[in-house]
Amino acid sequence: MLIHELNGMLVKTAKGTKDMRALWFEKGVVRAIDQRLLPGTFKLVTIRSYKEMAKAISDMTIRGAPSIGAAAAYGIALAWLRGEDLDRAAKAIKATRPTAHDLFYAADLMLFQRDKNLVGAAGEYADGIVDMCRRIGEHGGKLVKDRDRILTHCNAGALATVDFGTALAPMRVAHRAGKDIFVYVDETRPRLQGAKLTAWELLNEGIDHAIISDNAAGHYMKDSVDLVIVGADRIARNGDFANKIGTYTKAVLAKENKVPFYVAAPASTFDSSLIRGEDIPIEERSEDEVLCLGKCRVAPRGSTALNPCFDVTPSRYVKGFITERGIMKPDEISSMKATGPAIYRGPAR
Ligand code: MRU
Repeated sequence: MLIHELNGMLVKTAKGTKDMRALWFEKGVVRAIDQRLLPGTFKLVTIRSYKEMAKAISDMTIRGAPSIGAAAAYGIALAWLRGEDLDRAAKAIKATRPTAHDLFYAADLMLFQRDKNLVGAAGEYADGIVDMCRRIGEHGGKLVKDRDRILTHCNAGALATVDFGTALAPMRVAHRAGKDIFVYVDETRPRLQGAKLTAWELLNEGIDHAIISDNAAGHYMKDSVDLVIVGADRIARNGDFANKIGTYTKAVLAKENKVPFYVAAPASTFDSSLIRGEDIPIEERSEDEVLCLGKCRVAPRGSTALNPCFDVTPSRYVKGFITERGIMKPDEISSMKATGPAIYRGPAR
């Protein structure tokens, strides 16, 4: 089967299995899966303005670097449709979450194309991301062997990338090619993107998996994990990268246990303006995410918490970057630049 013939995210609903994206444009509004409610409730939200889009990104209705990039593009397209000030819309959207490069890249790309039909441009942007994720799946799928046990952190699946996924794309491709794989899903405290979202995607796809507490990763890495694949929010020029808090710990464990550690990401996540990982801005979120489990406070009243949302993993822990252009070593990524509208056409193969 050709990669372009592969379905995207399969979602099991009461009416059967649907091939869906995490967000899309429809009749003048944006529709998105509300990621805060999964897996208990599957609900679509309607976003009508850039202000509503900024809120949906901040409160993580839409999350994951490439998805918030597409959300930024759609948000600015909504402003364009309503005749609003595009610079103001981009400023509001850029102020939502500081770490993912995709958000800033997509917003700037929309401003760069302000003389065009921005609804069309945002749609092309989202299609371009999905195309890159498919190619990441195609390249990364070759790394996955029959009977491999793969560990992943957070959610770098279709929900995080409009469709298909980055870290999950090689797993989808391997599974659909008939390889027997097993996925260790880090629960990913504090917001549980692994336990809630990655597990939901793998279940829908029929991929064998188990959720493990973040603390259990070392235990399994010792002798049961063959491969680690994670996504990224921003990759600096030297290959240091930011991803969900806890990724660095997994990278160190992988090195110690000689487990190959791969990072899957499209060009939009590579920030060629940053030399080193230390320069990546790290989002801090509310301490309540750590002090409480859901709405229930578990920490003593009077205790405070620290809640960095991402950490930075030095490139020396990375065996390879799985990109739409192929698999690259950390010292080969300086050519990975998201270079304007050319991104839509896809890289030369
Ligand atoms: O805070 P989130 O849920 O937006 O963080 C998401 C991640 O860290 C993902 O691993 C990353 O965005 C890569 S998504 C392909």
